[in-house]
Amino acid sequence: MKKTGIVISSLAGALILCAAFVIPANHPSTDPPKGITDSVWTIVQKSCYDCHANDGNAMAKSKLNFDNWENYSSDKQTAKAQDMCDEISKGKMPPSKYRKNNPEAVPTEADATVICNWAKTLEK
Ligand code: HEC
Repeated sequence: MKKTGIVISSLAGALILCAAFVIPANHPSTDPPKGITDSVWTIVQKSCYDCHANDGNAMAKSKLNFDNWENYSSDKQTAKAQDMCDEISKGKMPPSKYRKNNPEAVPTEADATVICNWAKTLEK
């Protein structure tokens, strides 16, 4: 009786431990932040989110952090969206080393167009 109790509670403990590791698997939510459209978000997650997120590169997230997007003022969102368009169009982002190592994450011209058109919709 006692032994079963121990087995069950240690099993439960192991399960909770596993859940703790499995559930926050890097980026728990795939929902876009407010103001970012689904098509833009798909590109961001593919090409930008590795660095520009809370658990990303310190330099990158200090300039642009999608996990903090909803806390940006709408002026800041507009400016950042325009920056995103610029950086992608000039081929500056993602950085060249990342492009080399992650060819599948390199934004296409169509991706750049989606980002730039979206950036325009934020202008007032
Ligand atoms: C490998 C990591 C990495 C990836 C992936 C990446 N960035 Fe960056 N990004 C950085 C770093 C580091 C900086 C800050 C240093 C700099 O400006 O070069 C930065 C800066 C920026 C800035 C600010 C530029 C400035 O000077 O204010 C913008 C905008 C930006 N990134 C957009 C993007 C977009 C859009 C994507 C996806 C298409 C992307 N980044 C993907 C690392 C990354």
